[in-house]
Amino acid sequence: MHLSAVLPVTLLMGSVAHGRVIPEARAAAADGPSFWMESIEHQGVSPFGDSGYTVFRNVKDFGAAGDGSTDDTDAINNAMSSGDRCGKDCFSSTTTPAIVYFPAGTYMISASIFDFYNTKMIGNPNAMPVIKASSNFEGGYMIDGDPYFGEGLNWAATTVFWREIKNIVFDSTDVSPDTEISGVHWPTAQATNLQNLVFEMSAEEGTKHQGLFCESGSAGFVSDLVFNGGKIAAALGNQQFTMRNLTFNNAQTAISHFWDWGWTYQGITINDCKLGIDISTGGVVNGSVGSITLFDSTISNTPIAINSAQSETSLPHTAGSIILENVDIMNVPVVVNSTSGTVLAGSSGADTIAGWGQGNKYTPDGPTRFQDAIKPVTRPEGLLDDKGRYYSRSKPQYESMDVSSFASARAGGAKGDGTTDDTAALQKLIDSSASAGKIVYLDAGVYKVTKTLTIPADTKIVGEAYPVIMSSGEFFADQSAPKPVIQVGKEGSEGQVELSDFLISTQGAQAGAILVEWNMASTDEPSGMWEVHVRLGGFEGSMQTTAECAKTPEMETTADNVKQDCIAAYMLMHVTAGASNLYMENCWLWVSDHDMDVQTEADGGQITLYSGRGLNIESTKGNIWLSGTSVEHNVLYEYQFISTKNIYMGQIQTESAYYQPNPSAMIPFTVNKDLHDPDFSNCDGSKGNCEVGWGLRVVDSTDLHVYGAGLYSFFDNYDAVCSKYGGEQNCQEAIFSIEGESSITVYNLNVLGSTSMIDQDGKSLASHKDNQGVFTNNIAYFVNK
Ligand SMILES: *[C@@H]1O[C@H](CO)[C@@H](O)[C@H](O)[C@H]1NC(C)=O
Ligand SMILES: *[C@@H]1O[C@H](CO)[C@@H](O)[C@H](O)[C@H]1NC(C)=O
Ligand SMILES: *[C@@H]1O[C@H](CO)[C@@H](O)[C@H](O)[C@H]1NC(C)=O
Repeated sequence: MHLSAVLPVTLLMGSVAHGRVIPEARAAAADGPSFWMESIEHQGVSPFGDSGYTVFRNVKDFGAAGDGSTDDTDAINNAMSSGDRCGKDCFSSTTTPAIVYFPAGTYMISASIFDFYNTKMIGNPNAMPVIKASSNFEGGYMIDGDPYFGEGLNWAATTVFWREIKNIVFDSTDVSPDTEISGVHWPTAQATNLQNLVFEMSAEEGTKHQGLFCESGSAGFVSDLVFNGGKIAAALGNQQFTMRNLTFNNAQTAISHFWDWGWTYQGITINDCKLGIDISTGGVVNGSVGSITLFDSTISNTPIAINSAQSETSLPHTAGSIILENVDIMNVPVVVNSTSGTVLAGSSGADTIAGWGQGNKYTPDGPTRFQDAIKPVTRPEGLLDDKGRYYSRSKPQYESMDVSSFASARAGGAKGDGTTDDTAALQKLIDSSASAGKIVYLDAGVYKVTKTLTIPADTKIVGEAYPVIMSSGEFFADQSAPKPVIQVGKEGSEGQVELSDFLISTQGAQAGAILVEWNMASTDEPSGMWEVHVRLGGFEGSMQTTAECAKTPEMETTADNVKQDCIAAYMLMHVTAGASNLYMENCWLWVSDHDMDVQTEADGGQITLYSGRGLNIESTKGNIWLSGTSVEHNVLYEYQFISTKNIYMGQIQTESAYYQPNPSAMIPFTVNKDLHDPDFSNCDGSKGNCEVGWGLRVVDSTDLHVYGAGLYSFFDNYDAVCSKYGGEQNCQEAIFSIEGESSITVYNLNVLGSTSMIDQDGKSLASHKDNQGVFTNNIAYFVNK
């Protein structure tokens, strides 16, 4: 996360009802098909929060009727806010997680629901609840994810983590088409999710309804959304996003961008709209939309698919960059409209855009300005579904399973209280569940482990409201003998594993901790990780907060005085040589840059933590999907690929450690040749900030296909002058390194704060100076050979 510039936009103000109602006994009603999450025993706790805090809240327990006529606004807001949660004027909180659950029903609301920090709003996927705005609805948003109580948002959008909305229909069709209303106001950052939502809006010609409204943040991921009607079905601005499987029907404009740096659209369907995607904001003089990458998508009966303002002379130079790949059209006369008119014509019939783009390209020499067909990626078979599109799989919800198929961690003897050693209890439960075909349910809590947890084939784990598996103690403290916290399979293991909805963390000095070691080779069905985030430090109970690890930019940090207690991990995730067929979606591997539980303003709680390595992939067979992943603030690198192949990446995002080069990337870890650590031997003192961790390092790896990347370096020892817009871009010398026998394609590479945008075998291929974008610098199309 980083608090970055947000372009001013016209904003709809939301209002919040702070009504208090006393929870009533829930009427015993037949709610239609059941969902295990509703009936499972709710034993979640917040060990570092208030005792007696309730995690799971069924809105009907707070008096919501869901009968299509009763005004449920107060009841839902009460379910949301009860228990001293993080709302108005709270900076953020890791100790007040909640699930606000909606059984089947139609919930009428007359004012906004204020979505508190660290909340999952979840509906019954087997009978999706409808939240419906009444005709007298007041307030701009049905769900307000970050209200404007004053001039600014309640939370800086780039610090809004840990939230989800899924399995809900938002219906504004009772509201006059002349009224401005949006279904969900969603300025958010990493570790957030929207999944399986439907937005029902007025489809009248002059409608002012919107579905999704997001004006800022640093996200993130959404999938499986359907929009019917609307003026602008999705009005979007954010640094970056991965959006997959969205369908738009009958909107005036399906998607309109206020601004962005990079955006990955996979599997988008646009039917019967007037305009598909508008990225022309700011026009030719002041474009504010950096780039979009659209692939495996279908657009039909829509006069113009994309409206852009990029031209030879438009400013900033690379604003409005586009890559299209495998886009089917049917009755779309103009695919791309620009200031010069039609720049990519479509057809009144059916056609497929195999590959097309506009912007700057390096192949690998450049820049060349282009607005033309491109050769699409030669896609590795193993990454595709039977239609030739990239394989994808949404986060499983196990909605057809009975509650008896779940084995609760707490019922199985684990305490999750943040202090008890739960290693043995969890291991026993994981082993017995795998052999019995049960799904491990990690009740909300913090599960301390003091030895490696081994995950065998056939394991499925799903968490309640971001439970944490937290390593602690001497076992993980020695960087000369690193050990996995979670080890998925052992060397040679084969089988399938599914992990979702939990966090993995460390407590105190853990210089030898590898948070996840993935050894499993999967053959039939890929294994998967969905919303499994690594979160190091910066939270209550981590022993690495402002009290222990506050930043010290004014002091020179050396190998001798580096704070050993602030060494949080050895490596975040290691995909080893024998592993293959792993699908990762919406995973954020994060070394905290600030303390989320101190209630200071924005940058007040910055901390310096050390983790040696980010995500290291050495799978020899490959077949790995990284859909909406990001890795931030490690010492040596964020993403590293060693002798691997066949990797799909859709909007990868990195940030370099804010403290570097104080100390340099050679401190405090010893270079491990066996892990192919970079040693920065190329840095001879003649270059600028050279010993700074790589954002993306590729060594002897082939068929790597990146559909959107944001590699950011905001600081030089906490000073952001180096990443200033139009400035030197010298926070670090280079951020992306390709070495040895490698082949890689990158669509819409967005780089910030690095002088060189791409290095190949130590030689810079692209300078930031030639690729000025809206804030980051952009290369629309790069192939290294
Ligand atoms: C896309 O979303 C729809 C609606 O939620 C869902 O039914 C479908 O399975 C999803 N498809 C993919 C490929 O994820
Ligand atoms: C460009 O947009 C920015 C942000 O909206 C604004 O501050 C600036 O004045 C605009 N510049 C021009 C030349 O229109
Ligand atoms: C197509 O581009 C031209 C020139 O920028 C613009 O005037 C026109 O409004 C665009 N068409 C649509 C439908 O956005």
